[in-house]
Amino acid sequence: VLERFRDRLSPRVEAVVASADRLAEKRLLRSLGIPTALFDDEVSLDAPCIVKTRRGGYDGRGQIRCTTSAERLAAVAELPDPIVEGLVPFDREVSVIAARSADGDIVAYPLVENVHVDGILRTSVAPVDGPDPTGLVTTFLDRLGYVGVVAIELFDVGGELVANEFAPRVHNSGHWTIEGAVTSQFEQHVRAVCGLPLGDASPIGRSTMTNIIGELPDMRAVLAEPGAHLHLYGKEPRAGRKLGHITHVRRDG
Ligand SMILES: Nc1ncnc2c1ncn2[C@@H]1O[C@H](COP(=O)(O)OP(=O)(O)OP(=O)(O)O)[C@@H](O)[C@H]1O
Ligand SMILES: [Mg+2]
Repeated sequence: VLERFRDRLSPRVEAVVASADRLAEKRLLRSLGIPTALFDDEVSLDAPCIVKTRRGGYDGRGQIRCTTSAERLAAVAELPDPIVEGLVPFDREVSVIAARSADGDIVAYPLVENVHVDGILRTSVAPVDGPDPTGLVTTFLDRLGYVGVVAIELFDVGGELVANEFAPRVHNSGHWTIEGAVTSQFEQHVRAVCGLPLGDASPIGRSTMTNIIGELPDMRAVLAEPGAHLHLYGKEPRAGRKLGHITHVRRDG
């Protein structure tokens, strides 16, 4: 069935399949000339590293940070289908969200800065100053003939962008676009995969998105904050689970 519809699926099957396997993902990024962390044999035994399970991990699950070779060996034995990643000495984490239409038009949202706590995204701020990710994301979209929204998580290492991973879809670090951009990432994805013109990805101010993790806040207090937009996902509270997010937009002018 997949073979029959392959050419009609968006985004492309190759991108979706690669994004589900950290090893294939890194190889694909490298093949496009996009830098990634060192991995497997490239990471010397005594270097600090993160051992991750290749498939199925999210929100920092399925990852073990190691500083000694003994820890690394134990982590590789413990995790199913492991990949060893060199620890990237990043200054900060950023992401780029962009879309490519069926006609090959590309729009990119401005750079987003992301703060993770315990491997889970806590806040995203956009737009921020920093290295321009447009060239990198344009290469990615054009070379893959990609149609739809993609998010690429990046490390900013002294102004050089190193890719961590990509999501072939809308992304948590793009949730600010619902209120903070002319066209949200969700509308953008639907436009792209339906063969419609893309929308304006300009920000309408400076947005801060904060995830609600583990437990629900005092809803009345959140809603009493001027300009706060509360989104709840209807999930049962549980430690480390993303339950919703709050966005503030500080409008220009
Ligand atoms: N090689 C690395 N070097 C330094 N820090 C890393 C590395 N890999 C992951 N991290 C840190 O751990 C976080 C989570 O890692 P990663 O994005 O690979 O996992 P994830 O479980 O898919 O997370 P999410 O679902 O939130 O995207 C990263 O955002 C970063 O803060
Ligand atoms: Mg990630």
